[in-house]
Amino acid sequence: MLHEKIAQYTQEINQFVAQSHEDVEAFRLKYLVTKGAVRNLFEAFKSVSPDQKRALGKSLNDLKQTAEQKYKILQAQFSLGMEARKRDEDDLTLPGEGFVVGSRHPLSLVRKEIVEIFKKLGFSVAEGPEIEDDWHNFTALNFPPEHPARDMQDTFFIKKQDGNDIALRTHTSSVQVRMMENGQPPFRAIMPGRVYRNEAISARAHCFFHQVEGLYVDEDVSFADLKQTLYYFVQELFGEDTKVRFRPSYFPFTEPSAEMDISCTICKGKGCALCKGTGWVEILGCGMVDPNVLENCGIDASKYSGFAFGMGIERITNLKYEIKDLRLFSENDVRFLSQFETELI
Ligand code: PHE
Repeated sequence: MLHEKIAQYTQEINQFVAQSHEDVEAFRLKYLVTKGAVRNLFEAFKSVSPDQKRALGKSLNDLKQTAEQKYKILQAQFSLGMEARKRDEDDLTLPGEGFVVGSRHPLSLVRKEIVEIFKKLGFSVAEGPEIEDDWHNFTALNFPPEHPARDMQDTFFIKKQDGNDIALRTHTSSVQVRMMENGQPPFRAIMPGRVYRNEAISARAHCFFHQVEGLYVDEDVSFADLKQTLYYFVQELFGEDTKVRFRPSYFPFTEPSAEMDISCTICKGKGCALCKGTGWVEILGCGMVDPNVLENCGIDASKYSGFAFGMGIERITNLKYEIKDLRLFSENDVRFLSQFETELI
């Protein structure tokens, strides 16, 4: 009986062919585990008569070895098979996977557009620090200490240094001052940069935003130059059918001062939600540089005059792309940012 079983298993094992990892596992479970076929024969062997034991013992041990050897071979075959199959699946003629190139931030795109337009008019680009002292952000710009005009801009004051307040700049007008202090007219420059105001964050306001300030100082610069420059800018940026209007306003550093509106880019002046039905949207503040500011910066106000203007890049971007929530600009959500695919120049 036992002898026949050994012969049968030996034959089965030798002929066993595995197609998959599952087959190999089935082999192990059938022959090699504690309650498997080979162990069962060893159990039965215990009750065999002593004279048969010698002959059967050897063939039983051979069976065990055959099973273990076969299992090793099957395992090796199977893992080799995996590798070979994987290699077959790799199609080397497929194109590479490629990698994601980012896109420019919408504010950078619009800043670049603004800068390019003014460059055509001969404006250069100037920059200044974001951490400013009181003099450059306020006093030199004709905001005397304690003057209520300072309340127009909720300021992050950081510390006092030698009796001077240090603050995050509230506007890029501080760069005007730095530029004029360090040279003599003519000045013709635009100053893009980030500015900070202590505002509660909402869809319409943020504690930081971006501005582009412009300054033109020379002999005989008039309000007509200001109007023509800004009119040209608007037509270049928003199209030739865009209209402008100037409304009197107040800034401590310009006199006279104005706010400039453009005809609504969405409804073309008919009236919509964006322009609150008026047909106009405000885009910037401007005016003739106050003679006090020129003198504060060491420039002879009897000889030179100039104009300045300042605009928020977010506002312009909203008009161009109809973005309704300012917070999107600083949340780094790629679903938003990837909509501005552009050539990376
Ligand atoms: N600095 C002003 C602001 O931030 C804008 C401005 C700049 C107005 C230059 C007039 C001239 O509101």
